[in-house]
Amino acid sequence: MAHLYSYGSKSEGILGVASTEKKPAPMQMAAATKLAANNDAASLEHLSQLVAHDMAQVNELILARMQSPVTLIPQLAGHLIASGGKRLRPMLTLATAALCGYRGVRHHRLAAAVEFIHTATLLHDDVVDESNLRRGVDSANALFGNKPSVLVGDFLFSRAFSLMVEDGSLRVLEILSDAAAIIAEGEVQQLMTSNDLATTEAAYLNVIRAKTASLFAAAARIGAVVADRPPQEEEALGQFGLNLGLAFQLVDDALDYAAEQEKLGKNVGDDFREGKMTLPVILAVAHGQTHAEERAFWQRTMEHLDQNSADLARAQAIITAHNGIADTLARADEYAAAARASLLQFPPSPIRQALLNAVRFAVTRGY
Ligand code: IPE
Ligand code: IPE
Ligand code: MG
Ligand code: MG
Ligand code: MG
Repeated sequence: MAHLYSYGSKSEGILGVASTEKKPAPMQMAAATKLAANNDAASLEHLSQLVAHDMAQVNELILARMQSPVTLIPQLAGHLIASGGKRLRPMLTLATAALCGYRGVRHHRLAAAVEFIHTATLLHDDVVDESNLRRGVDSANALFGNKPSVLVGDFLFSRAFSLMVEDGSLRVLEILSDAAAIIAEGEVQQLMTSNDLATTEAAYLNVIRAKTASLFAAAARIGAVVADRPPQEEEALGQFGLNLGLAFQLVDDALDYAAEQEKLGKNVGDDFREGKMTLPVILAVAHGQTHAEERAFWQRTMEHLDQNSADLARAQAIITAHNGIADTLARADEYAAAARASLLQFPPSPIRQALLNAVRFAVTRGY
């Protein structure tokens, strides 16, 4: 798709800030030293590098625990897991544990549980959203069908809970089981606001807080729990994750209209085709309130889902005319600032800096 928005060229993220390649190669020592010195990088590389050793253990656990004698299960789960993903949420658990001075190995199991919950929600999400592209390849539902995708999603959820039970902390179980229920609530709330032009920004924020930010919050919070840190540190990391998750989903919703599809690895326009009331649309609808032709356009396309092949480009043009992408990204920046403020309560360290870089990545990314 042609790049319709002026937020960057092919090698740049949505805000025109250079972003890294999708799957960074392992770094040489010299490059690693240079990167460690780069405190402004809007990148996940610094963080991936610092948690690389732990993440290798997490990946082993993920591969071991997705196995089943029912061959379709590892086949389908393996398809999604092998196609990559940023591993952002398990990185949060590993990094916040490190930030809190944790030295053991409990966080490996918990990070694997967090990624399993995320993977399960993606399997379910692509069925609900009727999406056929994920991580740059055919989605599991497109390849294997809806029924196995839903059921393997359930399997992965269950495996996440087994990992938590093995860890044995009721507090962690409480945090992650609450998050799993809240994600489902968010997805159902979102169904209820789809195709409804009267959806408010507040209702939208409730949806993204539940469906996305709650898992980021839980992932970050359990780092403090395994390290046995006091409640105010647990709370600070929970707030950090929550605000990062809000920023992350706001950017995701901007990217759904403004990304380069190849870099995104998902279809641009899926939210429009489903009539999802995300912030770019909510802002465009609000600003075009008195514009009869625009109003009729949104009613036909979003409320009645009566769409033709030219409609996505028209929606993108209306959104642009009302600054819908820029304003959504500005909102994401506000949450990113709140996330940074929570981190700044912790003493400076390389891992704190890597997390600050990850916040910048979340709001400047193109994928
Ligand atoms: C996708 O999350 C789902 C959203 C909350 C937007 P990610 O963008 O973290 O997906 P992967 O794991 O990197 O593919
Ligand atoms: C996903 O939201 C939220 C979940 C955590 C399931 P989206 O539906 O926007 O995610 P993508 O864009 O398909 O990854
Ligand atoms: Mg989706
Ligand atoms: Mg969805
Ligand atoms: Mg999306």
